Amino acid sequence: IPVDPFDLVIFGGTGDLARRKILPGLFRRFCAGQMPEGAQIIGAARTEMDDAGFRDMVAEAIREFGGGRSCEDGTLDEFLKLIGYQVVDAKGEDGWKELKARLNDGLIRAFYFSVGPSLFGDLAERLRHFGLADDDSRVVVEKPFGHDLKTARALNATLAQHFDETQIYRIDHYLGKETVQNLMAVRFGNVLFEPLWNAQYVDHIQITVAETVGVGGRGGYYDKSGAMRDMVQNHLMQLLCLIAMEPPARFEPDAVRDEKLKVIRALDPVLPHHIVRGQYDGHGVEPSYREDAGDPRSTTESFIALKCHVSNWRWAGTPFYLRTGKKLRARASEIAVVFKDAPHSIFGADAGRHRNILTIRLQPNEGMELGVTIKEPGPGGMRLVDVPLDMSFADALGPDSEEVPDAYERLIMDVIRGNQTLFMRGDEVEAAWAWTDPIIEGWQNRGEAPKPYDVGSSGPDDSLMLMHRDGRKWRDIRT
Ligand code: BG6
Repeated sequence: IPVDPFDLVIFGGTGDLARRKILPGLFRRFCAGQMPEGAQIIGAARTEMDDAGFRDMVAEAIREFGGGRSCEDGTLDEFLKLIGYQVVDAKGEDGWKELKARLNDGLIRAFYFSVGPSLFGDLAERLRHFGLADDDSRVVVEKPFGHDLKTARALNATLAQHFDETQIYRIDHYLGKETVQNLMAVRFGNVLFEPLWNAQYVDHIQITVAETVGVGGRGGYYDKSGAMRDMVQNHLMQLLCLIAMEPPARFEPDAVRDEKLKVIRALDPVLPHHIVRGQYDGHGVEPSYREDAGDPRSTTESFIALKCHVSNWRWAGTPFYLRTGKKLRARASEIAVVFKDAPHSIFGADAGRHRNILTIRLQPNEGMELGVTIKEPGPGGMRLVDVPLDMSFADALGPDSEEVPDAYERLIMDVIRGNQTLFMRGDEVEAAWAWTDPIIEGWQNRGEAPKPYDVGSSGPDDSLMLMHRDGRKWRDIRT
């Protein structure tokens, strides 16, 4: 769907996120012919620079972080014509009038706060004070949205002084991932799964987001957060919501977000022995977490595994196991819905134990796999095997699907379209912190240190035990 012309101002336009994700993403939309005529993108930051200097930076960022395969030569030069730069002092008066003069009347205005949350209030206030934003403007804010419930509430309150909730787009880039949206399509577009999607048929659900990267380069931020705040409170929680929520009546922002909120509010507190924290150890061969974090005594976790329960009629008794970590064996993110055994085996004990597992692969190799039990071919009697009904999205949807837009591309376009479905509402974020805070306080009060795990492993052994104790097993982390 084409979008209307817009002015997009990126505060923190020279920063890491802008260079890695936002600007290359916008360029790919331009290549895809989705950037309307008259669109303007303005970087705004403290760094002294002129338009030409910023365009050079943008060109370099696009070369480094990917332009997309379908871009023809010369397209970059065309794209750069949309780009401008304004020096702005987020905490002072400088540059605001000049920035305002660059904006066009009558176009959609979006202001992307690609800066630390400590500046959200200053920016929001100045946008109003200097008359850059009105009641139709949109503001986009990045995570971390707060450090705990208290700070998230304060941020929400600050933004609410200047903007209505319908103008605020809180990004969780996992919601922009293709397969994450496919989760909703699979659940609510098919008759096949939803009747089984409950505690009666589902034994348990596993959500894994495994990364191979460490925290080198961003240890300063990460060491104050840890995996719980950096990944679980937001990305894994959103995945859990999409898996566990009731069908919304319509695919509309508040209908979807209301249902997600109910899931978060239905989460039980997590028991201390249902949490495993880990920290990677390179044993001198590779950097350890503590070196990357720059603190030899850090007790921040780079891995977390936990078991939780959604206490409602649909899910009573079905555990959700969540796991995420850095420097693991492979980059592999997936959700596995493990169904219960068939109620009665007519094939006898020798047939073994077989289970249907629906696996949704988020990255890489986006796709779905449904494990079904069939007879092993051959004359050897009724021996059963599990085989996958495998569907890779790239195979199923043809070559065009390789140009699947990256999460940021999609989300920025949704901002311009004014569609908040894939953005977090203020109450959702607060509810997620309300669940997260006591977990973190718990291990802080108990003075627990994370368990070391080897770089390139599947995390600490205790994480395996978390499943083992329940007679279950994590799926292998592999690509
Ligand atoms: C970010 C986290 O939000 O998500 C990072 O701060 C993490 O620590 C990243 O690496 C993972 O995103 P993706 O899209 O690579 O899975």
